[in-house]
Amino acid sequence: MPRLLSPAAARLVGAVSTAVHAGGNDAAVAARVAKALTGHLTDPTLLDPEHREPDPNHYRQHVLHVEPDGSFSVVALVWLPGQETCIHDHVSWCVVGTYVGVEEETTFRLAGDHLVPLRRNRTPQGVASYLVPPGDIHKVCNNSSSVAISIHVYGADIGVLGTSIRRRYDLPVISGR
Ligand SMILES: [Fe+2]
Repeated sequence: MPRLLSPAAARLVGAVSTAVHAGGNDAAVAARVAKALTGHLTDPTLLDPEHREPDPNHYRQHVLHVEPDGSFSVVALVWLPGQETCIHDHVSWCVVGTYVGVEEETTFRLAGDHLVPLRRNRTPQGVASYLVPPGDIHKVCNNSSSVAISIHVYGADIGVLGTSIRRRYDLPVISGR
């Protein structure tokens, strides 16, 4: 169960809710949510200490909020150096903002029986970006030597789904084919 949010996190949820419920297609909603998220990423009171706790074995997800109508979910992800996701895509649009440190995202194109890397984006603190399916295959990692924390907003009810991941891609990665 999500804990009671800090006032700053409650303000963030309110801003995201307004952005989501303004409607439009997925790209328009995701762009609006990214813009709404950006201003909150430099607020030092956004996350309580328990939402900054890492897990030594795997990046850790703290669920901050699931909107009652299921239209979006907000999580904080805590990454120790070297921790990363599998290669995956999502059931919905996804907005990512870096709160502490630097997060690195690599996007891929599915080419039959393998994946081709497309872009590597290093997102510093205070910056948000978004992905909209289809074509949102990616991996996220902390490729730095210090902890990273990011805020992710998904256009899905992860309280019901358990995760926003649609598919995991355990395929060879081959450049330039
Ligand atoms: Fe993702």
